[in-house]
Amino acid sequence: MQHASELHTALQWHIDAGCDECIADEPIDRFAVSKAEMAKAEMAAASDDASAGSRPAPNAASQPAASQNAPGISRGAKVNPQEVDNNRQIRTAVELARAARTIDELRDALAGFEGCPLKKTATNLVLSDGPAEARLMFVGEAPGADEDRQGVPFVGPSGKLLNAMLESVGLFREQVLISNTVFWRPPGNRTPTTQESAVCHPFIERLVEIVNPAVLVCVGAPAAHTMLGQTQGISRLRGKWYEFQTAQQSHPIAATAMFHPAYLLRTPIKKRDAWADIRMIAKRLSES
Ligand code: URA
Repeated sequence: MQHASELHTALQWHIDAGCDECIADEPIDRFAVSKAEMAKAEMAAASDDASAGSRPAPNAASQPAASQNAPGISRGAKVNPQEVDNNRQIRTAVELARAARTIDELRDALAGFEGCPLKKTATNLVLSDGPAEARLMFVGEAPGADEDRQGVPFVGPSGKLLNAMLESVGLFREQVLISNTVFWRPPGNRTPTTQESAVCHPFIERLVEIVNPAVLVCVGAPAAHTMLGQTQGISRLRGKWYEFQTAQQSHPIAATAMFHPAYLLRTPIKKRDAWADIRMIAKRLSES
């Protein structure tokens, strides 16, 4: 009996790690794919190099801290085809995101966007949940297995804890808008790479602009780093106020960071701090 339960635990571990979700109907020769992608990127790099200087530079203010430091491509320098392709995807993301005027338009733009590698392994696009006119907005890190299955953010155990935290201060899930820094589940719930975050960033920025909440809450350190450009650990970042502002916004939005509910489920001793944070958020919301 114990043996059966150990086997079940091992199987569940593999499922949680996403082993079942990367299996396609046909085998894929990854070596052939990457050779073709390299060739495509080299051709693109050559044409980019030829037209260097004729294109407007992407607006640095609308890109995450990580992408602002990406080295540029200068004439005569050895080009890295992958980097050229990455930068091109970010430019496309900026253009698509800027053109969207509503959440539905943003969802359509993301559905047609092929620049984020996470899309290839995910089941569903997970953009947002909640009303477009919400005054409180949460941004988490990335969809997990439950979110990927349902196409809705924060519906698994973390989402249930977040709902309970909201209710404890008289707020309800239906009043808030919830999203993530990336819109497809990273395989095995790994942390999104810098490029995955960078290419999704114009879309989450645009979502904040469209919703224009009174208060923005970054859920967990990766979200706080991406959205607020901060680098400290979440224990130092939480419980304080920051400003979130893009080049397109006329005013800054009050922003803060809190522990991720997944961390609170593993580390219940931190719930006391988390409850202080959610009370601080509710107070600020009632005053604004
Ligand atoms: N964790 C996140 O950061 N986002 C989700 O949507 C679910 C779990």
